[in-house]
Amino acid sequence: MNSPGERLGVFVESMEIPNPPWLQQMEQEALAERVPVIRPRTQGLIKFFLELCRPMRILEVGTGTGFSALLMDAFSPEGAGIVTIEKDPARAEAARAGFAARGAGERIVLLEGDAAEILPSLEGPFDLVFMDAAKGQYIRFLPEVLRLLPEGGLLISDNILREEEILSSRYAVRRRDRTIHKRMRAYLRELTGRADLQTLLLESGDGTAVTVKKKDDRQ
Ligand SMILES: C[S@@+](CC[C@H](N)C(=O)[O-])C[C@H]1O[C@@H](n2cnc3c(N)ncnc32)[C@H](O)[C@@H]1O
Repeated sequence: MNSPGERLGVFVESMEIPNPPWLQQMEQEALAERVPVIRPRTQGLIKFFLELCRPMRILEVGTGTGFSALLMDAFSPEGAGIVTIEKDPARAEAARAGFAARGAGERIVLLEGDAAEILPSLEGPFDLVFMDAAKGQYIRFLPEVLRLLPEGGLLISDNILREEEILSSRYAVRRRDRTIHKRMRAYLRELTGRADLQTLLLESGDGTAVTVKKKDDRQ
């Protein structure tokens, strides 16, 4: 029997507007092959902010095999473009093939390599940045991401609660995960503590942070 929280999650997910069948199939195949893809609640959240903010330039850090980029492409306004970064060559190749197969190769540009090296070479502004790469690296990517984000721009960071591990004391976390744990806490402190950012931390999915770079128009 699932916990009340899990049952509520299933109930809420059942109310989400469904993805097109080809995207549903892609998600099922990815899950069957244990390829990481964003969870349904994160999908719903991204779709909501795509509609609210209508971003024309989107940056994704962590393409995987391209599911989330194709989802953003499908729900973006006409004329929008996506730049997505992936360092794993096999995943990058699979993503490129998927973009071409969906006729999205012109709208989605995949940059293959380590985001730490690629981000400094990019020119902004990007209206929306979706952070979904190695969780221990978010804090390292943040200065470049904020450089690329205009005032009023949106940063969505996924998997911030790390299956609730973020709650645990560092001594309760497995030794090999302690660095990620420490860096993710530092990242959340940065997102929530900086005067130039406004952040909402959401518990749904695996935890998602939604951050707006504030407009500097207050006296
Ligand atoms: C959770 S998966 C992305 C899933 C994808 N956003 C989706 O929902 O379809 C994270 C991806 O980030 C990539 N990654 C991790 N660290 C990276 C880095 N430093 N630079 C670029 N890609 C990175 C991994 O290879 C992996 O494919």
